[in-house]
Amino acid sequence: MRKQLIVLFFWISIFDLTLAQSPIIPAPVVFIEQEGINEIGNLISLNPENLPEEIKEYFIDKLINVFGIQVVVNSNSKKIVFKKLVNTPPDYYTINITDNILITYSSQASCFYAVNSLLQLIQGEKDAYYFNQCYIQDYPKFAWRGLHLDVSRHFYSVDEVKRFIDLMAMYKFNTFHWHLTDDQGWRIEIKKYPKLTEIGAWRDSTVNDHYTTKPRTYTVEKYGGFYTQEQIKDVVEYAQNRFVTIVPEIEMPGHSRAALAAYPYYSCTGKQLEVPGLWGVFDEVFCAKEESIDFLKDILAEVLELFPSPYIHIGGDEAPKTRWKTCPRCQKVIRENGLKDEHELQSFFIREIDEFLTSKGRKLIGWDEILEGGLSPNAAVMSWRGFEGGIEAAKQEHYVVMTPGSHCYFDHYQSSNPNEPLAIGGFTPLEKVYDFNPIPEGFTEQQALYVLGGQANLWTEYIPDMKKLEYMTYPRALALSQALWCTSKPPFEDFKKSFVDYQLKYMNRYDVNFSKAFFYPKMELNQKLEGVTIHFKSGEPNYHFDLFVKSDEIHPALSGGQVIGEKDSLYFERTTGSKVVNYSFKVSSEFTTESSVYNFTVHPALELPIELKSKPSEKYSGSGSSTLVDGIIGCKPWKGNEWLGFQEQEIEFVVDLKKYSKIDSLEIGFLEDEGSWIHYPNFIRFSVSKKGKKWKYLKDSDLKLNSNEAKKGKTLPFSTIINNKGRYVKVLITTFDAIPQGIPGEGNIPWTFMDELIIFFK
Ligand code: ACM
Ligand code: ZN
Repeated sequence: MRKQLIVLFFWISIFDLTLAQSPIIPAPVVFIEQEGINEIGNLISLNPENLPEEIKEYFIDKLINVFGIQVVVNSNSKKIVFKKLVNTPPDYYTINITDNILITYSSQASCFYAVNSLLQLIQGEKDAYYFNQCYIQDYPKFAWRGLHLDVSRHFYSVDEVKRFIDLMAMYKFNTFHWHLTDDQGWRIEIKKYPKLTEIGAWRDSTVNDHYTTKPRTYTVEKYGGFYTQEQIKDVVEYAQNRFVTIVPEIEMPGHSRAALAAYPYYSCTGKQLEVPGLWGVFDEVFCAKEESIDFLKDILAEVLELFPSPYIHIGGDEAPKTRWKTCPRCQKVIRENGLKDEHELQSFFIREIDEFLTSKGRKLIGWDEILEGGLSPNAAVMSWRGFEGGIEAAKQEHYVVMTPGSHCYFDHYQSSNPNEPLAIGGFTPLEKVYDFNPIPEGFTEQQALYVLGGQANLWTEYIPDMKKLEYMTYPRALALSQALWCTSKPPFEDFKKSFVDYQLKYMNRYDVNFSKAFFYPKMELNQKLEGVTIHFKSGEPNYHFDLFVKSDEIHPALSGGQVIGEKDSLYFERTTGSKVVNYSFKVSSEFTTESSVYNFTVHPALELPIELKSKPSEKYSGSGSSTLVDGIIGCKPWKGNEWLGFQEQEIEFVVDLKKYSKIDSLEIGFLEDEGSWIHYPNFIRFSVSKKGKKWKYLKDSDLKLNSNEAKKGKTLPFSTIINNKGRYVKVLITTFDAIPQGIPGEGNIPWTFMDELIIFFK
């Protein structure tokens, strides 16, 4: 393939023409505008020669039903002509639009890609459609261009799954990772074990709101569903007609509560538990005894009959070892096989399944936890906890699909707009997705060959229906398609132009409920010496909005405490002493039906310089140290970018008050979200200094959670009296050594999330 690409570049260079902005997403390798227009009106005649039957049907269906263009199939027509190439790379195609249209392609898949590019090139409206004349050469960069869908947490019907596949195929994704089983529901009919769907496909209740919201409440209502084997065959065929491979996932040994509710014998305790209506990670997993592994092999045997994909996903993530540690059968497997511990037992478990799949001519893929205790010989790794698992696997010469939470988790928030609908947490805006490169920095060409591609994951705890699913998927999937397709990814500005000028309209033709978050005004802060300037700015400069400001105190720049209309930036000076002023900005815009309210708090520490001695995690680094004093108080449930997140035992930072001061007290916010491994710190030590050299230590652990305040929903429930003099304040935060047993993430260093820091001083 690589050699052939070099030849292609040679072909391109002989044209020696300037490349233009393409309306198509993902952007083709070569797009050359030509003079002139090819008019369609509302009728196209199509030469069916060399056009595969399924693609012809697909093409005609879209022309008629999406555009309302009539189609005449005519062997004498020169309007759209197809030609099959030989000796070209497998997924290569060209389109040449002059007065007629010539499509050349090397594979059926690339013929399908060409047709989708052509559909995106249709301009104009009903009865007056046309093409701008152009020339395109194209082929993909990565072989695995995936989207994942979790149908366990919320169930999606066959028609909804088909629509999801239909939309992704338009953007040249070729892999649909179907997450069919999890704790909250088993979704695939298995003939040998009917209780999997009779019992495992249904739960009695579903938790409301974010699962960290306390007290928890539930909707007590039977919820569920599953796909029969006939329905699955139908979906597989539907996907095949769109050149999408479906990779089914059967989770093991963790995330198996639904299966174990149906067949408790295959757990360690044999205890009958229900299909849970709560999200999270549960201790109950498949026992590693032979009978459980055989049960899973039986299930996989039926799965293999339904899915022709080379890869079968077996999960492998988030499997607590709690039950295995005390289970006589698991301990026996450890002893008899000379295994070191429960991590090696997990590795043994996966190896058994790997051998089974390999014997059937298939390949195992699993989440990056399958590296722990040793990677099974034929296993491919899906790297989700960052790039590290993928890097390690590729170095061990195993194939890898990159799907790091930082860029590829589409269940994260996509903007900091206060109206953004409830999400699990995290912050993955369009620009971040666009930045994604599955090949880690520093990889050699040889190592890069092990990276098959990338994928976005749509976990559906907080995505209950199709409307929200499309909202979370689009337009981020467009950014991802470009990251996975383009050999040379154009700058974000070019992507934005294709998106704004063409793809918004294209997605509207398909009634995609895409998010407009990219256009919402963002509150941008510019640090000034004694305060901050707030500016509201949209991702799209031509976009208009109105701004109203309210505060509990009149700002000098505001008449009567309110600004209306054009004014979009305001300067706020720090307050002094113990004064805090809360502002709220109400922003209404052409893209939102409701206005959004942004809160902003001016306090004495606003924008003071902070030196972070410990680095926050790259994923949760907000806008650096100033995140702590930016006047935006981290919200709950957390959204990611307002918080600084650390996975360090010790976190240290120094605040410069800019003058020798009497320091009265301090408030600081921490997050607690057990399910995400985020905990309050163990203790905190404060020191003060006049010059930042000699430090006066104040007593440790004086910082108390004021639980009454926390209950009242006060955002910064930690406070401490300092009552000392100095210019510099040093804060040292120490976490517990490890997350305690029986709690998600046990044994790992707890995460610490901080925001905001308010210091009262004179
Ligand atoms: C995962 O997100 N637990 C793979
Ligand atoms: Zn066991």
